[in-house]
Amino acid sequence: MKVALFSSQKYEKPFFNDAVSAYPNLDIAHFEHALSMETVSLASGYDAICVFVNDDVNACVLAELAELGVKFVALRCAGYNNVDIEAAHALGIQVVRVPAYSPEAVAEHCIALMLTLARKTHKAYNRVREENFDLNGLLGFNIHNKTVGIIGCGKIGQSLVSILNGFGAHTLVFDPNIGEGSYTKVSLQMLFEQSDIISLHCPLTDATHHLLNDEAFDIMKPGVMVINTSRGALIDTQACIKALKSKKIGYLGLDVYEQESELFFKDRSEDIIQDDDFIRLSGFPNVLITGHQGFFTKEALVEIASTTVENLNMLDCGEESPNSV
Ligand code: NAI
Repeated sequence: MKVALFSSQKYEKPFFNDAVSAYPNLDIAHFEHALSMETVSLASGYDAICVFVNDDVNACVLAELAELGVKFVALRCAGYNNVDIEAAHALGIQVVRVPAYSPEAVAEHCIALMLTLARKTHKAYNRVREENFDLNGLLGFNIHNKTVGIIGCGKIGQSLVSILNGFGAHTLVFDPNIGEGSYTKVSLQMLFEQSDIISLHCPLTDATHHLLNDEAFDIMKPGVMVINTSRGALIDTQACIKALKSKKIGYLGLDVYEQESELFFKDRSEDIIQDDDFIRLSGFPNVLITGHQGFFTKEALVEIASTTVENLNMLDCGEESPNSV
């Protein structure tokens, strides 16, 4: 099976080379380009493509892939909001994903954002490097005894609950599909009203698009901390900027951003960034942004590469993968 791997990054190549060495039937070519209508022709001559979070696998791209003879799409991530699944199925293209590579990696990154914002360690780091040991402006707060609202309590949400319970926080959860656990199940309205910290861990769907909007921010506690390590479009960026300006949001930690596909995973330090909303967001002193690195641990990369390669091997052998979408 010949596989065209799009959006290839230097950091992941050794992990894929290792994983594929056990499968002589798989031949993976790495392309740095993201998949789009402009780059889809690179898939000519390949049986499968392998894509990541910001590759655009829309209906037009899929039609072109089918035309080129591509039969399989292997996502090397969990979320699949960037793939038109219905269109893929209609074209007879099978889609597989990596459902869980390391939920703990994302949950721990989420905690890193929370603690950094709560204790202002990003500011302290810069101050101490300039021999400025003044503590004024660095006053923090404890996570202990705070109420943390978790929206979406699947694998990552559950892992976050365990960590937060260790901190002695009160965990509120809104998720229509889960039973009882070591958290308090509440309505979305109650979660918005009562949480000191709100963290998003649900998938991006039509129902969750702009889940945090003007109305949601209105009913939150003043000075609330909002963390999003899930998908950018769960938050309405314009509403979020308004809530930061009015001080309704006291702290914002983002690992994902609505328009991230134009920015993330590349060095843009010499570019003039055209996205004014991103520049506004990153200019707030109480906003911390990382570039979609929640998943980025050694453990997760080993799991991503091995599961992707196993998925591809099963498809090549004509077997049904348990990770089909
Ligand atoms: P999961 O599928 O295990 O859990 C998602 C949970 O969200 C489920 O329990 C589901 O019932 C719930 N849910 C669905 N619709 C909901 C709604 N309208 N309101 C509240 N809850 C709802 O997924 P997992 O592995 O925990 O991942 C969650 C999300 O994290 C993914 O969809 C992905 O977008 C994001 N992610 C981000 C990464 C990063 O590097 N920042 C890496 C991996 C995933």
